[in-house]
Amino acid sequence: MSHLQAKAKVKLVAPSILSADFANLEKEIKAVAAAGADWIHVDVMDGHFVPNLTIGAPVVKSLKRVSPLPLDVHLMIENPERYIQDFATAGADYLTIHIESTANPSQVIQEIRSLGVKPGISLRPGTDVEKIIHLLPLVDLVLVMTVEPGFGGQEFRLDQMAKIQRLRQEIESHSLPCLIEVDGGVNEKTLPYLSQVDVLVAGSYIFKNSNYKTAIDFLKA
Ligand code: DX5
Ligand code: ZN
Repeated sequence: MSHLQAKAKVKLVAPSILSADFANLEKEIKAVAAAGADWIHVDVMDGHFVPNLTIGAPVVKSLKRVSPLPLDVHLMIENPERYIQDFATAGADYLTIHIESTANPSQVIQEIRSLGVKPGISLRPGTDVEKIIHLLPLVDLVLVMTVEPGFGGQEFRLDQMAKIQRLRQEIESHSLPCLIEVDGGVNEKTLPYLSQVDVLVAGSYIFKNSNYKTAIDFLKA
C-alpha cells in the first residue's frame, strides 16, 4: 500500500458552518473544534454562480480571529479572481475555486498560491472530471461536490462516485500531494461510499446533531 493510500484512511472532518447558528458562529466553531473537527468549511456564495447568498471576506476575517482551526474557504462565486486577494488577507488557509467560475483557472490557482494560501479546485456534479485532471499538480485540494452547490441539507449523489475513483487513480499514479475532499450530503448513511476520500465536509449532519462529538467521531471512525 502506498503512502497516499494509507493517508486516505485517516479522515479529516470539516464542518460546514452553513448549517451552524449564524448568530453564534464563534461559539459554534469552538464547539466543533472541541468535538474533534480538523478544519472549518466556509461556504461563500454570490447569488450568481449559485442562487444563494452567504458571506464575504469581512466575515472570514472575523472568523479567523476566533477559530483555532484552519479555514477551508469554498468559493461559489463568478470570477473569483476579483476577490482572492481579499480572502487571502482575511486569513483563508485553503481557497477553493470552481472550474466553471473562471476563464483561466490555472492562473487563479497560481495567484492563490502566490498569496501564501493553499489552492483547491472544485467541480459541479454535471462537470466532467477530465476537465480538472490537468490542474491536480497545481492544487493542494480537489473538492468533489456530491450535491448541486448552493444549499445545505440536500441528498448525496451516488452518481459522483466514479469521479472520486478517477481522481484517486490519477493522484496515486503521479504521487501527487493533493487531498480529495467531498462536500454535500455526507452523513452516516453515505460514509461507506467515501473510503477513498481524505476530507469530509459535513454541514447538517454535524450541526443538526445534538452532540457534535458523536457526529464527528462517527465520521472519523
Ligand atoms: C453546498 C455547500 C456545502 C453544504 C453542505 O453548496 O458547499 O458545504 O454546506 O451541507 P450538507 O452537509 O448539509 O449537505
Ligand atoms: Zn462547501
